Amino acid sequence: MSAPAAVLAGLGAHVPPRTVTNDELSRRMDTSDEWIVQRTGIRQRHWADFGVATSDLAVEAGRQALKSAGAGGFGDIGLLVVATATPDQQCPSTAPDVAARLGLGTIAALDVGAGCSGFVYALATASAALVAGHAERALVIGAETFRPFLDLTDRSTAVIFGDGAGAVVLRRGTTDEAGAVLTVDLGSDGTLKDLVGIPGNGSRHRSTGRPAHPDEQYLYMNGKEVFVHAVRRMAQSSSAVLDQAGWSVDEVDHVVGHQANLRILHALARQLGVDRERLVCHLDQVGNTSAASIPLALADAASRGRFRSRDRLLLTAFGAGLTWGSAALTWPGTTLA
Ligand code: UT7
Repeated sequence: MSAPAAVLAGLGAHVPPRTVTNDELSRRMDTSDEWIVQRTGIRQRHWADFGVATSDLAVEAGRQALKSAGAGGFGDIGLLVVATATPDQQCPSTAPDVAARLGLGTIAALDVGAGCSGFVYALATASAALVAGHAERALVIGAETFRPFLDLTDRSTAVIFGDGAGAVVLRRGTTDEAGAVLTVDLGSDGTLKDLVGIPGNGSRHRSTGRPAHPDEQYLYMNGKEVFVHAVRRMAQSSSAVLDQAGWSVDEVDHVVGHQANLRILHALARQLGVDRERLVCHLDQVGNTSAASIPLALADAASRGRFRSRDRLLLTAFGAGLTWGSAALTWPGTTLA
């Protein structure tokens, strides 16, 4: 039976032009191309130049998504959700500035902070707003600029993260249409908040009257612990969303997991019982782009013609918080070029 749903209507991506290879990092710190490729699958990432902020990347990706949505793309967008862990500043949020620069007028605009799960959380937020009738169309952007938060003396994080932005346009439609977001599953475990994050600058530090130590301005991560939780939570959340959608694992055409580490994606595939050919992998080119990783992977796969109309996609992500989230959707009938 058909029901109201958000339907994918546009897709965009943008990465800053500067490519940073593993070899370049090997010259700056005690690491090697061999270690990075074997332990993560990453071959290069893009870093934003000095002076480029998250909103700048978000505007580029958003503009592309609106263009790909065609006539009406700019016209009736009523909501912008920007998912980011690296906003331009603490306050105000990044989304209103992005909306204004995209010429979207005085629409509702908010940031969603859910670490690397941010895009799935933002998709869920926008889908719910469309289904509730609060807007006819929404723009959802995942955007990150990690470079300023990377400690180049910490090889365990500096080689992992990259900058970029990916975006989708959603329109109000129905579940029987190609491109419908059918169901989402979201979760969190704040007892594990200290495993990954950027602690400095928030009200916790301000409330102690102690200025943040320079190290606290940087991203830290207990990679080994996060790895274990990432696989477990993405597998559980994926199963939950497949149950809700009424899909068996065999019916999924493409698994678009958070692009953190190829070994995590392979472990996820093993736990779900999905063959690796169905994994969408883009992290070799861009590294871990956090909230941008799923829309960047979607845009890359779409540009290669990998998806066909009504293919069944499972999106699943995991990140700081800890947070996790999954979505089941079908691929739209139109080309989202
Ligand atoms: O996106 C948010 C969610 N984040 C994630 O999902 C990340 C999850 N974690 C990971 O992807 C992995 O844990 C990492 C890629 C971060 C690290 O891989 P690992 O296999 O867990 O390595 P490790 O931290 O256990 O370190 C193994 C060894 C250590 O040396 P010793 O103590 O065995 O001598 C590290 O010092 O590798 C060393 N190491 C490196 N060596 C060369 C750590 N980083 C590097 C490096 N280059 N860049």
